[in-house]
Amino acid sequence: MNRQLLFNIFRYNPQDPESAPHLERFALDESDAMTLHLALTRIREEQDPSLQFDFCCRAGVCGSCGMVINGRPGLACRVATRDLPDEITLLPLPVFQLVGDLSVDTGSWFRDMYDATESWIHTRELFDPAKPEKRMDNALAESIHELDRCVECGCCVAACATARLRPDFLGAAGLNRVARFRADPRDERTDRDYYEIIGNDLGIFGCMGLLACEDVCPQHLPLRNRLGFLRRKMGVTALKQFFGK
Ligand code: SF4
Ligand code: SF4
Ligand code: FES
Repeated sequence: MNRQLLFNIFRYNPQDPESAPHLERFALDESDAMTLHLALTRIREEQDPSLQFDFCCRAGVCGSCGMVINGRPGLACRVATRDLPDEITLLPLPVFQLVGDLSVDTGSWFRDMYDATESWIHTRELFDPAKPEKRMDNALAESIHELDRCVECGCCVAACATARLRPDFLGAAGLNRVARFRADPRDERTDRDYYEIIGNDLGIFGCMGLLACEDVCPQHLPLRNRLGFLRRKMGVTALKQFFGK
């Protein structure tokens, strides 16, 4: 027999002065192969059309359905209700600006992070559309692609204690972005250039290294590995600068 699930869902509309943050309870019969996305869609269709939450692809690709699921950030479309207890509490991701209920604005945060990390290839080479593309070693291209798989869901940022304390901390997503460009031979920036961006408490030296980010990343990006690598590189760069080398 299917279970009856009890949902405690965060409700708040910051645009409405009458609205106050609270949890609202909804009961729903579980169906086979139900995901949280499906459950929320049914609650909205059958019980409360005003419930706000985000989704787009329903396949873990767009990164828009991040929320805190029983205390842990995750993608609602990738979590099956059969893996959860009868009572499920859903909160919006912290750190990001709340749009309403479970919907947050991750887009502005990521845009600011891309600006802060100068998230584009820096090269003095002029682009010539007539020239054949330069070949890249397959293994190198794959290692860059590995870091490019971030879906910008914000789960790593929401799980990060430093990001909760410092809104402008670049977070694992930002540091991963720097690691991606540092690995790309087309980018002519040096470690000194990267040090200007992440050699401080808003970058790699603000990271406490407890790796909640890697635990919750739905893409299983190698964040532990990349954060450790950047910390070593930036530490060496700091020493070289100190000794004037
Ligand atoms: S390891 Fe660093 S980036 Fe990851 S959650 Fe901890 S403080 Fe945040
Ligand atoms: S690094 Fe992982 S958890 Fe963080 S935004 Fe990208 S996909 Fe999401
Ligand atoms: S709806 Fe796209 S990742 Fe969940």
